[in-house]
Amino acid sequence: MLYENIREESLKLKVAADWFPKFDCTDIIGRIDFAVKIKRTNAIDFGDEYLLWAEAKQQPTDIYRMLAQLIITIKADAYNRVPPKFIGCFDNEKIAFVEYHNVLPIYQINDFNWTQTPSAVDDKTVDTVRNAISANQIFSFNFETDQAELRNFLKANFNLDAATNLLSTLIDKNNFIFVYQKWLRQVMPKINADWAVLKKNYGIYDRDFFLAELNVDDNGTAEVNDDKTVNADFYITFDAADKKPYQLVRKDGFGMEATYSFGFKSDGLQQYTDFWKHYKRPPQNEYWKYILERLDLLVPQDVRERKGAFFTPQIWVEKSQQYIADVLGADWQDEYYVWDCCAGTGNLLNGLNNKYNVWASTLDQQDVDVMKERIKNGANLLENHVFQFDFLNDDFSKCPQGLQDIINNPEKRRKLVIYINPPYAEHGNRKQVIGTGANKTSVATETTIYKQYSNILGAATRELYAQFLIKIYAQLPNCIIAQFSTLKGVQAFNFKKFRDFFEPELKKLFLVPASSFDNVQGAFPIGFFIWDTSVKQRFNGILANAYDQHGIEVEKKNVYSYDNDRLVIEWIRPFFDKQNEIIGYLRMKNTDIQNKAQIFFTSMPSEADFREKTYTFITKNNIIQMAIYLTIRCVVDGTWLNDRDQFLYPNDGWETDNRFQTNCLIYTLFHGQNKITCKQGVNHWIPFTESEVDAKERFESHFMSDFLAGKIKSEQPKDLFSDVDAGVETVHAPSLQMTPESQAVMDAGRELWRYYHTMADANPNASLYDIKEYFQGRDAKGKMNAKSDDKQYTELLDNLKAAMQTLAAQIRPKVYEYGFLK
Ligand SMILES: C[S@@+](CC[C@H](N)C(=O)[O-])C[C@H]1O[C@@H](n2cnc3c(N)ncnc32)[C@H](O)[C@@H]1O
Repeated sequence: MLYENIREESLKLKVAADWFPKFDCTDIIGRIDFAVKIKRTNAIDFGDEYLLWAEAKQQPTDIYRMLAQLIITIKADAYNRVPPKFIGCFDNEKIAFVEYHNVLPIYQINDFNWTQTPSAVDDKTVDTVRNAISANQIFSFNFETDQAELRNFLKANFNLDAATNLLSTLIDKNNFIFVYQKWLRQVMPKINADWAVLKKNYGIYDRDFFLAELNVDDNGTAEVNDDKTVNADFYITFDAADKKPYQLVRKDGFGMEATYSFGFKSDGLQQYTDFWKHYKRPPQNEYWKYILERLDLLVPQDVRERKGAFFTPQIWVEKSQQYIADVLGADWQDEYYVWDCCAGTGNLLNGLNNKYNVWASTLDQQDVDVMKERIKNGANLLENHVFQFDFLNDDFSKCPQGLQDIINNPEKRRKLVIYINPPYAEHGNRKQVIGTGANKTSVATETTIYKQYSNILGAATRELYAQFLIKIYAQLPNCIIAQFSTLKGVQAFNFKKFRDFFEPELKKLFLVPASSFDNVQGAFPIGFFIWDTSVKQRFNGILANAYDQHGIEVEKKNVYSYDNDRLVIEWIRPFFDKQNEIIGYLRMKNTDIQNKAQIFFTSMPSEADFREKTYTFITKNNIIQMAIYLTIRCVVDGTWLNDRDQFLYPNDGWETDNRFQTNCLIYTLFHGQNKITCKQGVNHWIPFTESEVDAKERFESHFMSDFLAGKIKSEQPKDLFSDVDAGVETVHAPSLQMTPESQAVMDAGRELWRYYHTMADANPNASLYDIKEYFQGRDAKGKMNAKSDDKQYTELLDNLKAAMQTLAAQIRPKVYEYGFLK
């Protein structure tokens, strides 16, 4: 091995000498292990220019783990610097590079734990980085076996000649934000424009002026972009030769253009000229397009910081304060004290007007500094009320005296509102730890609160946000808690012990889609809860208001704890039948709406299903119950609001409703989650006879058409279908009762089958799944295509889908009526 048995420091020196001899690798930037800088002799001094920042390890280490460490280090030590072209990592075997812009999105991830120590980065974070940076964005080379490739890569990307000859920096995906931020400091204040009016009347921002300047061709660069229209109705052009160089062009409805001109203040032109000497503009077309796509990044540093990792959107900040005022009264800001004990950069406190009553503390000193900086820029907070405090570890005696006076005084404490959007980091579950064999370390399991409460409160304590609630409830009795979080605390089964302990009265709750928070993906609700801890009242349920991502009120939503409910799985279990002929399998997992895709009929469970026992047999005796189970799980559409709703043990209304039972059976025969196929055994699920569909051969099984015709007898554990006494085993045919809606589905289905059997190579035993596969085919990865080129098939399938929708509409209300859903 090339670099065997050498220490990390020597490894860095050797890598520098062997691979980057013409560059300066001696710089120390915060705690970044290794940096490659261009040695500039003839360039105008406008800050250092780096080609690489890298993490170094003495021993072979996972690339993503090293990158995760570096990304956290950069955030802490170098996030405000102009970044390098690449970030990377190396150990004594290999080196890897990623273009910096590919890691930018990671800095926007909401639940990324930026506060951990880089050298002990947790597995969840490494996985996040693994998911965010695709393998083809990483260029990795073994020092020994890929020597030639590495040389070629460095020649192409670390081209010293090109680099040193450049007097001005090219603007690209990596640096445009920083160029903009420098411009904000140096040029923007010199422009003679009323920014507030421009924003209000035209939706024009300073960044539009920046873009107009950026688009000027003053270096003879090949490509100048014609497309200046950042904003379709208004745009800014720039010509330095004009006395008033900025032209705001406005197009009216008739295609006429009006222009408004703006000039510089006193020495503005000089500032402008000096600034752009350092950059080559315009950027190449590909970067220009990218910049236009990412205009959201062109906001002042302060705002961007807040938009990033931890940020409550302003619309919800405002709404939450309205709700607090509703609960505590219009004068709450004068009558109550507010403490945001995980304030980040203080964004949640925007809009509060009585700074004498507001306290803000947070974990990172950096964030405290940002808050103090913001105070200088007009944020309505008191410097002495902003402090560093690790809420989950520190003792209240570390708080400023004024706040301690409130905390220690029972009367004042009743007037304390803990107003927070707590962090969401979660420690991996036990299974993960065993599965990876990894020795996990995590902030969530190292806190004092975790150590104190994990034995009593179980799984909930693995979540930082629950730890905040536990500490507040236990140590700040009688205060008000106003907090954002998911609904786990009130709904999740593994939070039951937490609910046994955390029993304040929930005064109000509103829900918003999680996706309205920056970079949170997934369709689920985030709630804003207002709790009065002076009243003990176990949470069972509440009718919550809900808003869409624009803040428009949508239907109200009942949120339940389900602590006193039995789940649907308890209902279906007594119908499991291990004795009779298997006609298919029900695959099932979990009992909430979000797991709909996990429920289906199949001819053969997968190995994993066998292992995990996530299936049961369908037989002539339980087919009705299995059909009801599949139907209720599939028929209700999941939305961000209902996706955590649980399916429950029903009342007995369904037992005597033959129409409902029949509807469910027909629904499951033609639903996409019925994946029965003749390729995995006898297909018992053909709803028609051979003659009905003109099949060319006899079917192997007539079970389903016989069952529908009432020819098959079922033995039921209860008297579901007869009037014999309960508990007596009866032998009879279930009395099916077709509704016009289910008949329409049968008719549409029959047409589809008939068409299929006109095909020369039709398989007589084909199921609906097989028929779909026949016409739609599969893609290269083996996934069934969504569409078919066969027009007649498409039309027949559309008819079937329409009939299914009508049938679904008839079934849906029954799902609630019979209590499968609350
Ligand atoms: C979801 S953010 C909320 C930030 C801001 N209040 C907002 O609403 O936009 C949570 C914040 O809690 C901070 N934090 C994490 N652990 C903490 C701890 N143990 N003590 C105090 N603050 C913590 C994080 O640094 C982060 O800034």
